[in-house]
Amino acid sequence: MKSLSNQTSSIAASMTVAIDTLAKKLKAAGQDIISLGAGEPDFQTPTEIRKAAIDAIELGKTKYVAPIGLEEVRKAVTYKLKKDNQLSYEPNQIILTSGAKQAVFNSLAAIVNPGDEIIIPAPYWVTYPELVKWFNGVPVFIETSPETAFKITPEQLQAAITSKTKAIILNNPCNPSGAVYSKEELQPLTEIIVANDLYCISDEIYEHFCYEKEFVSLASFPQMYERTILINGFSKSHCMTGWRIGYNALPESMAPLISKIQSQAIHHPSTPAQYGALAAIQSGNDFVYKMRDTFKQRRCLLQQKISESLGNEIPLPEGAFYLFVPVNSLYGKKTPDGKIISDSVTLCSYLLESVGLAIVPGAAFGMDSCVRFSYAAAEETLLEAAKRFNLGIQTLR
Ligand SMILES: Cc1ncc(COP(=O)(O)O)c(C=O)c1O
Repeated sequence: MKSLSNQTSSIAASMTVAIDTLAKKLKAAGQDIISLGAGEPDFQTPTEIRKAAIDAIELGKTKYVAPIGLEEVRKAVTYKLKKDNQLSYEPNQIILTSGAKQAVFNSLAAIVNPGDEIIIPAPYWVTYPELVKWFNGVPVFIETSPETAFKITPEQLQAAITSKTKAIILNNPCNPSGAVYSKEELQPLTEIIVANDLYCISDEIYEHFCYEKEFVSLASFPQMYERTILINGFSKSHCMTGWRIGYNALPESMAPLISKIQSQAIHHPSTPAQYGALAAIQSGNDFVYKMRDTFKQRRCLLQQKISESLGNEIPLPEGAFYLFVPVNSLYGKKTPDGKIISDSVTLCSYLLESVGLAIVPGAAFGMDSCVRFSYAAAEETLLEAAKRFNLGIQTLR
């Protein structure tokens, strides 16, 4: 047989998806597994959204539509961007995608030429570097740490820029760290982005999950609108992960290019799901604000329990719904059957095998010293997960 694509073969599969799939498989096989691996709210999609999609199906709104999506849905997205983010877009600047993940794919497909450097603050969402590599780009990481609240500084950004730098991907609030940049922190970063004529891929999928600070879109800063490819969607805000609906909001000049990618790659996201997204926007933000308040309490609960287990206070993340916990003090210890915990992967494998707890190794996000817990789970699940984590690490020697 002839070889498969070298380019595609060189890409790593998503570790978060792999862990979630493994946890589900073990559960289905009858094992007692608690999974805080997936980045998925545990609530049901709101009734009015489900009803809108069912109505669309019943009314036969199930055919092909324009590759960039239904005009009425794109119009609704422009309304949302105006209302929530004070951004003015026309419907032809909005491209509906199969989840925010595809919006990331579109963004990179639109701008990356071979050898272009794309700056990615670490820790990062697993998908960014792999997609950059898929397009023959070069991911350039800026390291952060718990001490800097997992945020990059203007000095670090400036130092990472070379003549080959094309863009930066900023995910605010951040998965996995929960870091939220304030307006004051973003301002000097945007000045550097503008001064160096970079594109900015701004992944704002967790915008509503800010627990203390106000969320500010990067596209709203001076001279950023025309260089920002905004990414957002409904998976997290409206518990629509399986519906696969997200969007790009773009400068007018870029929209035709992404529309072309879309027309060849997927045509458009599912038509009934687009009607669900329309209902999501029409229903306003009450649902997501209520969910945010619940997550805020869960965040404190999990942070407190895990801090107690580790014997030191983990800082509260300011956004998203993840606790990103430094665990390198456990590295070098031995499991009861003599295996050495050498990194985040061996620690997570040990926890899954010994106490049935699925969490994600920080290595997946480019920071091996940490592990990620999702707290988008019921309180009793979080308490059980914390109990198992404690049991697992207390038996290390
Ligand atoms: C930072 C970030 N961007 C994008 C996505 C993808 O969202 P979707 O499920 O809408 O594709 C995720 C999902 O976990 C994410 O964490």
